[in-house]
Amino acid sequence: MKIAVIGSGYVGLVAAACFCELGHDVTCVDNDAGKLKLLREGQVPIHEEFLPELIARHHRTRLHFSGNLAEVVHASTAVFIAVGTPSKENGEADLSYVESVARELSQAINGYKVIITKSTVPVYTSKWIRQVLLLNGASSNDFDVVSNPEFLREGKAITDFLFPDRIVIGVTEERAVRVMDEIYAPLSTGAYYLAADSIPAPTHFKGPAQVIYTSAASAELIKHAANAFLAMKISFINAVANLCEAVNADIEDVCKGLGSDSRIGPRFLRAGIGYGGSCFPKDVAAFRSVARNYGCEFGLLEEVERINSGQRARFMRKVRSALWTLKGKKLGVLGISYKCGTDDVRESPAVSIIHELLAEGAEVKAFDPAATGRARQIFGSQVTFANDAYEVADNSDALLILTDWEEFSELDLNVIREKLNYPIVIDGRNLYNRQKMSKAGLVYHSIGRPSVDLERLAAASPGLAC
Ligand code: UDX
Repeated sequence: MKIAVIGSGYVGLVAAACFCELGHDVTCVDNDAGKLKLLREGQVPIHEEFLPELIARHHRTRLHFSGNLAEVVHASTAVFIAVGTPSKENGEADLSYVESVARELSQAINGYKVIITKSTVPVYTSKWIRQVLLLNGASSNDFDVVSNPEFLREGKAITDFLFPDRIVIGVTEERAVRVMDEIYAPLSTGAYYLAADSIPAPTHFKGPAQVIYTSAASAELIKHAANAFLAMKISFINAVANLCEAVNADIEDVCKGLGSDSRIGPRFLRAGIGYGGSCFPKDVAAFRSVARNYGCEFGLLEEVERINSGQRARFMRKVRSALWTLKGKKLGVLGISYKCGTDDVRESPAVSIIHELLAEGAEVKAFDPAATGRARQIFGSQVTFANDAYEVADNSDALLILTDWEEFSELDLNVIREKLNYPIVIDGRNLYNRQKMSKAGLVYHSIGRPSVDLERLAAASPGLAC
């Protein structure tokens, strides 16, 4: 099928590459000339597993890039809208880009098209898109609007797309259902998984996805509710972790007990410095606004946000209580991106903690396997950037772990201890076990677990200084 994807940001580019993988002909439309030039040269502007391979595989054969929306829409049966929906000051999603694409589409339609929203949008956006098209002269015979939300995690976006838990399609018109069925047939029938060169399946994959057909409004709510629920799960476990600290319990053990209840499940129960990224903070705020606008105050989500921002403040208290005053202290920071596997620093808890450390007069040296370039744009010369974790530890008064990169969980702790000025590690992602830290002679503070504190360590090994 000929598919147009409007917007070549995160969602647009991943969706375009994956639709090519399913055998469709795809053209990505973008109005950013610089980005188009890069994409046409075959460059990949985002850090995402398997994306470079897929772009290289399909570039110029099935995958094309264009700045001419009308021309691409003329040639396509399905048009996916994947433009940004940033947050406004009041938490609502800014839908002006979606509206302007809808206006352009009304002029470009030249026969039946299925117009599909991939961007995360509030309930009734599909209805509004339809109205904008009609008000701007498009005939109702010539289009249907579908909500088809994505559930992609950054860093795992390609496998999430090609091996989904479910595919949600919000539309009731038969003719649009047929087009959507055809687009996703390789996934719903499982044909894609039989191809010799398909992307490897993730370990938890249980077979072809369930396709859920529903109304556009329900599909839009599914997306917001899913993200809000996951954010709630994280805030819930963080609140329990805080209680663990108060009563000397261990959040890891509590999670094992909780997550083994199949009704709860073990995923998204990792306590830490809170969630970040371009989705959860924005979508929780947007979902709250949607609920409020329709007269359903959703106070639970306010609490989810409060707990989440509280985690950063609690982490700062841990740093102060391990080091006393921060002015002039040399702090080594591991991790800047909002989670492992991505160079994305948007709403990263690590970034906000580094800002606070700097505001209190600490000197910060940091390393991130992927996000250093983006971090330089934020912090400039305020932060020193190192080339690896050991360089960060070297001559630092303490080591702070802020992102859950796997390589940070496999450090040679004896080398870390030798390099640090004081043997102190404060771990915002619970990457280490206490016994290991204690054995390496490191004071260790983490989230929701008893600490290896200085007194205990000093009692076990009187010559403590590094
Ligand atoms: C999320 C959703 O998972 C995805 O379905 C949606 O399409 C977009 O938003 P993403 O933001 O890429 O994806 O990352 P995710 O892996 O969900 O993590 C979000 C944040 O929660 C990260 O900051 C992560 O560190 C944090 N997190 C996640 C926890 O603190 N604990 C957990 O147990 C899981």
